[in-house]
Amino acid sequence: MLDNISPTTQIDPTHNPELADRIDEILEEHKAKPGSLMVILNEVQSKIGFVSEPIQDYIAKSLRVPVSKVHGVISFYSFFTTQPRGKHTIKFCLGTACYVGGAPQLIDKAKQLVGIEMGKTTDDGQITLEECRCVGACSQAPVVVIDETIHGRVKPSKVAQLIRALEKEDEGA
Ligand code: FES
Repeated sequence: MLDNISPTTQIDPTHNPELADRIDEILEEHKAKPGSLMVILNEVQSKIGFVSEPIQDYIAKSLRVPVSKVHGVISFYSFFTTQPRGKHTIKFCLGTACYVGGAPQLIDKAKQLVGIEMGKTTDDGQITLEECRCVGACSQAPVVVIDETIHGRVKPSKVAQLIRALEKEDEGA
């Protein structure tokens, strides 16, 4: 489908007509609504899976709002991502209980093991590392959410096991 074009081009609607069409559809449907910017960004995030910088520029131009306003919304709300997510998403809860319980150490370990920064995806598209807010499992802090599964009382050594398990699962797939 989109596999034969470079990742940079894939996330840029000015170079990817298929992506531009999908965004145009969302813009058409929602641009006349009150609070349209937020609605449109939400729709793009949920239907396309990310709101890259070129997409933010494209939306700003189309709605005739300053790009800085769009960037501001995207950086304020943590559920927006600016890159396509990987096959697996590993989220680290940074709510108070998890933070105090050692989430920063888990994040350090994961970054070191996977070799990417938070908010990024590995080059092979397998793993995305993200932060999240309290997921309501504070009694099990610190909590890591892998895809939809919550793992509680995670220690740095367990992070390595969890990542290995994901890799094994993919090898066996
Ligand atoms: S603070 Fe992490 S689950 Fe509540």
